[in-house]
Amino acid sequence: MTTKQLFGKRIVLGVGGSIAAYKAILLLRRLTDLGADVEVVMTASARQFITPLTFQTLSGHPVHTDLFATDDNMTHLRLAETADLILVSPATANLIGRFAQGLADDLLSTLILASHAPLLLVPAMDGGMWQHPLVQQNVKTLRETGVEVLDPEFGTLASGHIGWGRFPSEETIMSSIISLLTMPGDYHNEVLLITAGPTHEAIDPVRYITNRSSGKMGYALAQSAQKRGAQVTFITGPTSLTPPPGVHTISVSTAEEMQDEVHKHFARATVVIMAAAVADYRLTHPAETKLKKQGQKHLSLALSLTPDIVGNLAAKKTGQFMVGFAAETENLIEEATRKLKEKGLDMIVANDVTQPDAGFGSDTNAAIVLDAHGIVEDMPLMPKRGMAMKILDLIRVCLDNRQ
Ligand code: PMT
Repeated sequence: MTTKQLFGKRIVLGVGGSIAAYKAILLLRRLTDLGADVEVVMTASARQFITPLTFQTLSGHPVHTDLFATDDNMTHLRLAETADLILVSPATANLIGRFAQGLADDLLSTLILASHAPLLLVPAMDGGMWQHPLVQQNVKTLRETGVEVLDPEFGTLASGHIGWGRFPSEETIMSSIISLLTMPGDYHNEVLLITAGPTHEAIDPVRYITNRSSGKMGYALAQSAQKRGAQVTFITGPTSLTPPPGVHTISVSTAEEMQDEVHKHFARATVVIMAAAVADYRLTHPAETKLKKQGQKHLSLALSLTPDIVGNLAAKKTGQFMVGFAAETENLIEEATRKLKEKGLDMIVANDVTQPDAGFGSDTNAAIVLDAHGIVEDMPLMPKRGMAMKILDLIRVCLDNRQ
C-alpha cells in the first residue's frame, strides 16, 4: 500500500446508529492518512452514539446531518455528484432495509439515490438480525443492483452472544475501498467467457453426481472482469450465489449443457476462463424413474466420459486466450502442466485443494499459475476476489505482450 494511494479521491462516509459507529472514526483516520478527502454524513441514530465534532475534527469538514439544513440546502446533490465512493459504515438493518426499498427520507438515503458513485455497505448488527430472511432479502436486492455489501464476521457481538454480525475487520474494509477506488478499466476492449461452479449429472430424477465446487472462484472472476470494463458472458453450474450484477449470466446444470453454451459464445470471446469443476463422468443411462433399493446390497452405475469442453475448443480457436483451472490433491505442478498441454491452454491456475482454506467452498484460495514455460506466479493464500484480480493482471500482461 503506497502512502497516498487515495489522493484526489472523494469519499462520503455515512455513519449509521450502531455501537460500531466508533469504528468509523478509525476508518476515517485510515482514509485521510491515504490522502482521501472524506465528508461525513451522520444519521440521527448515529448521533446517539458519537458526536459530530469527532468526525469534523478528523475529516476537516463540517459533518452533515440534516437534509433541510438552511445554510447549504443542496448538500445532498453536491455530495452525490462529487463522490467517487459512498461508504456506509456501520450499516444497520434499518439502513439496509431503507436503501433496498429506495426510500429517501433523510440526508444519507437521499444522496445515495441521487448518486452514481459506487456504494459500499459495512453491516453491523446482531447475528439474529443479520440472518433474518427479510434482512437477507434486502441484502440480496442491493447486491443485485450492484451495491457492494460486505459480509459480517463471526465472533463475539456487542450483546455478548457469539454469532454472525461482527463488524468486518478494518483490513477487509480498507481492501474493498481501495479496490473499488483504484479499479483499472483495462478490460474495456475484451469479451470474456467465464465458467464457474459444479455440474450435476443425473442418476435418476432425484439424485445426481456432483463435486464440492461452490462457484466462488468463478463468480469472483466474472465480477472483477466486469468491474474492469470487460463484457462478460458467465456460464454457471448450480450454485447458491447471486448472479454478479451487470454480467450476462447463463445457468446450466450438466456438462453437456455447459458445453453447448460455451460453444455458442466462444466465437465472440477474446479470453476464456474455465473455472468450472465440470464432472468428468456422467451416467451412461440415467434412470427415468427413481431407483429403488429392492433389497440388493450393492449397486453399480455405468459411467461414460463427459465432453472435454475446453479441450474440444482447441480446433475452433481464432486467437482466444485460454485459461483453465486444475484442482489437484497430489503432483500439483505435473498434473497442471499435463492439462495445460493436453487441453491446448495458454495458462492454468493450479489449486492444491488439500491445503486448508483453499480450493473448494472457501472464501480464500492459494494457487500456482503456469504457462508453457513453467511457473508464472506462486499466489499465497488470499481472498478469492483478490486472486481473481491477480489472475486478470497476469492475463492482461499476456494480452499486451501479444499485440
Ligand atoms: O468453486 P469454488 O468452490 O470457488 O472452488 C474453485 C475451484 C477449486 C473449483 C476452481 O478454482 C477449480 O480449480 N476449477 C477446476 C476444477 C478441476 O478439477 O478441473 P479439472 O482438473 O477437472 O479440469 C481442468 C480444466 O478443464 C478446468 O478448467 C475445467 O473447467 C476443464 N474441464 C474439465 C472437465 C471437462 N469435462 N471439461 C472441461 O472443460
